[in-house]
Amino acid sequence: MRVGYYQYHPEFGAPGRNLEKVEDALAGVEADIVVLPELAFTGYFFEDRAELRELAEDVSDSPIVQGLTRLCKTNNFYLVVGFAERCKEKLYNSALVIGPSGLRHRYRKLHLFNTEKEYFDPGDTPLKPIEICGAHVGVMICFDWVFPEVARSLALQGADLLCHPSNLVLAYCQKAMQTRSLENSVYAVTANRTGKEVRPRGELFFTGQSQIVDPQGEVIASSSADAEAVVLCDIDVSTARNKFMTENNDLFDDRRTEYYGRLVSVHP
Ligand code: ACM
Repeated sequence: MRVGYYQYHPEFGAPGRNLEKVEDALAGVEADIVVLPELAFTGYFFEDRAELRELAEDVSDSPIVQGLTRLCKTNNFYLVVGFAERCKEKLYNSALVIGPSGLRHRYRKLHLFNTEKEYFDPGDTPLKPIEICGAHVGVMICFDWVFPEVARSLALQGADLLCHPSNLVLAYCQKAMQTRSLENSVYAVTANRTGKEVRPRGELFFTGQSQIVDPQGEVIASSSADAEAVVLCDIDVSTARNKFMTENNDLFDDRRTEYYGRLVSVHP
């Protein structure tokens, strides 16, 4: 199957223009799954909850979801996109999986980063892979990378491929995702954004360097820190189903779960 990402610079507060940009960039692209960055249509650095509420959309009545569904129909592919989601009184930093028939899956970011905690509600959707074109696909968002439990939980439920919309501002994630891929024997597509946002609360620089990593932890495609790019790569998900690191070491069967109890307990 062919997977990829679109690394770009969303314009803050301009969802319509960002949608047009995505439509232009992905016109004619032949792929099965393309991943876009976190908060791919609104921008990232909200001033407060009121500003986020103005820009967030309800998935059942969203020009962005409608536009992306049209694009998926035309191109016959699936998109995994970061999305500012309004659901009644709640506001979530979400990732949507959209295909030719519309919304397939929604994940709401579990681990909010820094000031996101001031305006987003914490995610409340389960970590659950879905099947697309014969691949089991797990979705995680940006700062979820620092919690290895996220990738592990998705992999233990059969994920072959992690789709990872991101708006990275720290320097560690790309290397960490190589480890997430290696320790779980899964592919990972990290779609990061580029550019800078100058907003009332300050300036943020986003680090680009989107990448696709294979189950051996090798980077098989990547981008620079600042170039906008659509990058595609052919992958073979059957290699992610082999969990042997040596003939005597199965990454999942070798776990000594009886010693790991504190991993899922609350910090004292
Ligand atoms: C992040 O989670 N956007 C760093």
